[in-house]
Amino acid sequence: MNHALVPIALKTPDRAYTILIGEALIAQAGALIAQECGPKRLLIVTDENVAGFYLAPLESSLKEAGHTLLPSIVLPAGEKIKSFDFLQELMARLFDRAVDRGVTLIALGGGVIGDLTGFAASITLRGIDFIQIPTTLLAQVDSSVGGKTGINSAFGKNTIGTFYQPRLVLADTKALETLPRRQLLAGYAEVVKYGLIQDAAFFAWCSENAHALLAGEGAARITAIQKSCAYKAALVAQDEREAGSRALLNLGHTFGHALEAEAGYDNEALLHGEAVAIGTIMAFDLSVAMGLSPAAEAHAVREHFMQAGLPTAPAAKTYDVDQLMAFMAQDKKAKAGQLTLILTRGIGKAFVTANVDPAPVRALWEQVVKS
Ligand SMILES: NC(=O)c1ccc[n+]([C@@H]2O[C@H](COP(=O)([O-])OP(=O)(O)OC[C@H]3O[C@@H](n4cnc5c(N)ncnc54)[C@H](O)[C@@H]3O)[C@@H](O)[C@H]2O)c1
Ligand SMILES: [Zn+2]
Repeated sequence: MNHALVPIALKTPDRAYTILIGEALIAQAGALIAQECGPKRLLIVTDENVAGFYLAPLESSLKEAGHTLLPSIVLPAGEKIKSFDFLQELMARLFDRAVDRGVTLIALGGGVIGDLTGFAASITLRGIDFIQIPTTLLAQVDSSVGGKTGINSAFGKNTIGTFYQPRLVLADTKALETLPRRQLLAGYAEVVKYGLIQDAAFFAWCSENAHALLAGEGAARITAIQKSCAYKAALVAQDEREAGSRALLNLGHTFGHALEAEAGYDNEALLHGEAVAIGTIMAFDLSVAMGLSPAAEAHAVREHFMQAGLPTAPAAKTYDVDQLMAFMAQDKKAKAGQLTLILTRGIGKAFVTANVDPAPVRALWEQVVKS
C-alpha cells in the first residue's frame, strides 16, 4: 500500500464513502476498488485528453485486479459536453453496452466528466453506482467531493442536476503532472479558498508552500488536497443540500460566476478558478469597504493570488456593470432578487449574509471593471 495514501471519510444522511488521496492511485485503482467495493462490473467514462494519458493504465489496473470491464466511453473534452445533447449521447452509449443496475460507472477526468457522468449515473435506471477518479486539481479538491452533479442548459450553468454521492473517490496526485499550468493554477484558487473560509493557519501554509505545490512537490500536493477534501467533506456532511453552512464554499463565487457569465463561459478567456480568484479578492474588498474586514488581510489575499500567478482583476475591460449586477441577482443563492453573499471578517472568518445592499457592490464593480 502506498505510504502516502490518505483516506477521508465523508458521511451524508444516506451514504458514507471514502476519498483516497495519494501518488499513482490510477495504477493501483483495481486493487483499491476491490478493497473498498469488492469485485465489480465497471465502465469508464472519460474525455479524449485524459484518455490519451490514463485510460490504458486504468483499464489494465482494473483488469489485473479481476474486475469485469465494459468498453470505455471517450467523449470530447471541454465544458460543451455538460449539455442535454451529450447527456443523451452518453446514455445512448451506456444502453448500447447493455448497462444494468449492477454496473458501476467510473468518471475519469476533470470536473466536466465528473459532473456529467455523476448526473448520468444518478438517472440511469433510477440510479447506478459511480466512482470518481478526478484528474484536475479543481476536481481533486472540489468537484469530485460532495455529490453535486449536472449539466448546463439554456437556463444557465449547472441548472439541471442532482445531489448524488459517489461510492469512492481516488485522487491521484501523479495525474496532475500532465495538467496544463493554467488549469493547475485555476484549481489552486479553490485550495486557497478553504483557508480563507475557515482556517487562517492553512492560508499561512499555502503562502509558504504554494511554490512547491505548483512546482509539483508530491508531499505539498497531497497535504493541499487532503486538507481541501477534509474541509469540504465536513461542510457537506453538515449540510449536503446547501441550506446553510455549505454555502460558505461559494466564497468569491457570486462575483466569479457573474464574470464567467459575462465572458460567455469562454474558457479561453476565463477559467472558473481564475474567476474565483478575482471574485474572492472582490469579496474581501467589499468586506473592507463595509467595515467588516481589516484592509491588510484583503491586501494579503491579493498579493498571494498575484504571486501564485493567478489574475487579480478581469483582463478585458469590456464587462458591463449592469449586466454583472443582473447576473449576481440571478445567482442560485439569491432569493427573491435579494443578494446573498459570502463576506468575511478577515482571513479564515467567512460568513453567509443575506439582503446585501447592492450600492457598495455596484461601486466595487465600477472600480474593478473601469480601473
Ligand atoms: N460538482 C461540483 O461540486 C463542482 C464544483 C466545482 C466545479 N464544478 C464543475 O467542474 C467543471 C470544471 O472542471 P475542471 O476545471 O476540472 O475542467 P475540465 O474537466 O474541463 O478539465 C480541464 C481540461 O483539462 C484536461 N485534463 C483533465 N485532466 C487532465 C490531466 N491530468 N492531464 C492533462 N489534461 C487534463 C481536460 O480534458 C480539459 O481539457 C465545471 O463544469 C464546473 O461547473 C463542479
Ligand atoms: Zn468553484
